[in-house]
Formats: sequence, C-alpha cells, structure tokens
Amino acid sequence: MQQVLVTGGAGFIGSNFVHHLIAATDARVIVLDKMTYAASPAALEGLPADRFRLVVGDVADAGTVGPLVAELTGPDDAVVHFAAESHNDNSLRDPSPFIQTNIVGTFVLLEAVRAHDVRLHHVSTDEVYGDLELDDPARFTETTPYQPSSPYSASKAGADHLVRAWVRSFGVRATLSNCSNNYGPWQHIEKFIPRQITNVLAGTRPRLYGAGANVRDWIHTEDHSSAVRTILERGQIGQTYLIGADGERSNIEVVRLILQLLGRDPDDFDHVTDRAGHDLRYAIDSSRLRAELGWSPAYTDFEAGLAATIDWYREHRDWWEPAKEAVEAGYAARGQ
Ligand code: NAD
Ligand code: TYD
Repeated sequence: MQQVLVTGGAGFIGSNFVHHLIAATDARVIVLDKMTYAASPAALEGLPADRFRLVVGDVADAGTVGPLVAELTGPDDAVVHFAAESHNDNSLRDPSPFIQTNIVGTFVLLEAVRAHDVRLHHVSTDEVYGDLELDDPARFTETTPYQPSSPYSASKAGADHLVRAWVRSFGVRATLSNCSNNYGPWQHIEKFIPRQITNVLAGTRPRLYGAGANVRDWIHTEDHSSAVRTILERGQIGQTYLIGADGERSNIEVVRLILQLLGRDPDDFDHVTDRAGHDLRYAIDSSRLRAELGWSPAYTDFEAGLAATIDWYREHRDWWEPAKEAVEAGYAARGQ
C-alpha cells in the first residue's frame, strides 16, 4: 500500500488534501504538523484509523523528520510538503518563523528525502513571481523570473530554489507546484475571504485594504488537491507546474459578492489601511499542467464555490468563533 507523508496536513490546504487522498486513492497517510495557531485538529476528525496517523512535530527538526521519511520504503511512497507559515500580514510583523519553517524546514526535509531516496512534491505559491500590472496581458508561467515582494513570498522563493538545487545537484526526485489563492472550508479566519464572511456573520463590516483594486486568481482548494495528486501520479521529476483555475477577481468585487450572497448591501464595508508592499495582481497560466498532465479544475463557477464556502462558515461557527476576537484585535491594532 502506498504511503504518503503530508507535512502541514492539519492546515487549510493540507487537511483538504488529506481528505482528497483518502477518498481518491488507497494510500495510507501520515501527517507531520507542528500544530501552530493555523492548524485545525477538527479538520482531521473522522479519518479511517487504519489509513491515517498524526505526528505532532516540527518539519525543521531533523530528529523527527528523518525517521518518518525512513518509513517510506515503497516504490510509490512520497512526501507532499505543505508545512509553512503562510500569511503575508504575519510575515510583515515578524518574519523569523517564516525563515525557520519555510526555508530551514524545507532544507531539513530535502536532506531527509535525499538520504532515503524518497519522492517529494513541494507545494509553493504564485507569489514568488511578484506582481503584475492590472492591464498586463501576460500571466505567470513556469518561466517567469522570481521577484518576491514580502518576507512570506521571499521565504517560499528560497525554499523553491533549494528544491531545484537538490534535484540538480543530488538527483533528488522532486516536483514543484506554484498555486494561486485558495478558498474553501477550513481556511483560517485571518485570510481575506474567511475574514470577510465571518465579519458579516459576526455582525461587523468587511475590511478592504486600500481601494480594493488588487486582483487575486481564486481557485477552490479541492482543485488544488486534485492538481497536486495529478502531479504526484504523473508529473515529470524536476518539473514545475503552475496551478490555477482562471479565477481572477478584484478584492472589491469579492467583498461585494460576499455581502450580496449574505443578503446585505454590497457597499456595507470599510476601507482600511493598506498592506505594506501590497502586490497588485496575481494571475496564473496553467497550460502546462492542463496540456501535459490532462488536469482541469472542477470548480469553475466562483460564485457557486463562494456560496458553498459561506454556507460552510455558517455551519461551523463553533470552529471559528473562539478565534475571532483575538484575530480582529490583532488587525485593529494595525488599523486594519
Ligand atoms: P496554513 O497556514 O493554513 O497551514 C499551514 C500548516 O503548517 C499548519 O497546520 C501549521 O501547523 C503547519 N506548520 C507550520 N509550521 C510548521 C512546522 N515548522 N512544522 C510542521 N508543521 C508546520 O497554510 P495553507 O494556506 O494551508 O498553505 C499550505 C501550503 O500551501 C503552504 O506551503 C503555502 O505556502 C501554500 N500555498 C497556499 C496558498 C493559499 O492560498 N493559502 C496558495 C498557494 C500555495
Ligand atoms: P490574503 O488572503 O491575505 O492572501 P494573499 O496575501 O496571499 O493574496 O489576502 C488576499 C487579498 O485580500 C490581498 O490583496 C489582501 C487583501 N485583504 C483585504 O483587503 N482585507 C483583509 O482583511 C485581508 C486579510 C486581505
């Protein structure tokens, strides 16, 4: 039976991927997660005990990572590396955990997969490419030069460079993917879409940074999962694949749509202090993944996906409500 070690598997995208893998394959899954503030133990409830195990530990700790990777002795066994500090705003406040987890953690994992000759898939972000002008006809491709703007995106760029160097210098069997902004269930309420949904559900107004003209290329997290599984099964070693679902929307459009879907006046939001160094636009050209590996997204209707996500947050108040006050206090202290 195939075994997959999923780092960061208790986070938003990682936990959705674990459920996807359990449902779509026969694989046995081991999650390695430090259980930071961003982890959700509840997201891993109900998984079959004979196919799932949670190890609480740090991906930057070689003493934890080495023995786990050594368990992966089957020909199709693999590591899928999601573990990261993932929020730009937090990286502006304190970059140090971003350097430690995203760069040092990836280095430690690379040394372990090198020592035990285990296949790795490294999960990254389109933010490594910097940003685009609103009217730029080009989108990011696998050959776009790296130009990260924030401590978060710079730390992810550093990790990507390490993975490519370990492929070339040591023959590590790795693939990489850079995905656009995800939305869906279990996303932490510090992030844009869940923050605005839960603001409205909690009776406060959504908060838009600056004018709200910034564009993000939204993809449902289930489509990210199916893309990563496709790359794991059919991707070419050493290759990078961009993952996106043609979901470009400005932030102001998204806020208005959330308000509308919740039956509120679409202008019932506040403009707040903009993010320092705020990237203007991300946009992904995922032609390689589609043409070479035959992947395509299932969630092509953003409004329907957003409506389902709103329903999910409505039904999971007990999960997000305890964290809401502290998250909002942190934002308020920064005028956001
Ligand atoms: P998240 O913050 O929701 O989850 C991260 C998980 O990693 C948490 O469970 C946390 O406890 C764990 N973690 C943090 N530090 C760790 C450490 N040192 N050792 C072990 N576990 C640790 O993040 P997410 O949004 O699910 O993102 C997952 C991955 O996908 C990240 O690598 C991120 O860069 C990438 N990504 C995210 C997006 C997005 O829109 N959220 C888009 C593209 C790529
Ligand atoms: P975010 O979810 O933090 O993702 P990223 O920084 O990785 O794109 O933010 C998405 C967009 O929403 C980004 O342009 C910043 C903006 N934003 C707001 O306007 N208000 C908010 O409260 C937050 C958290 C983000």
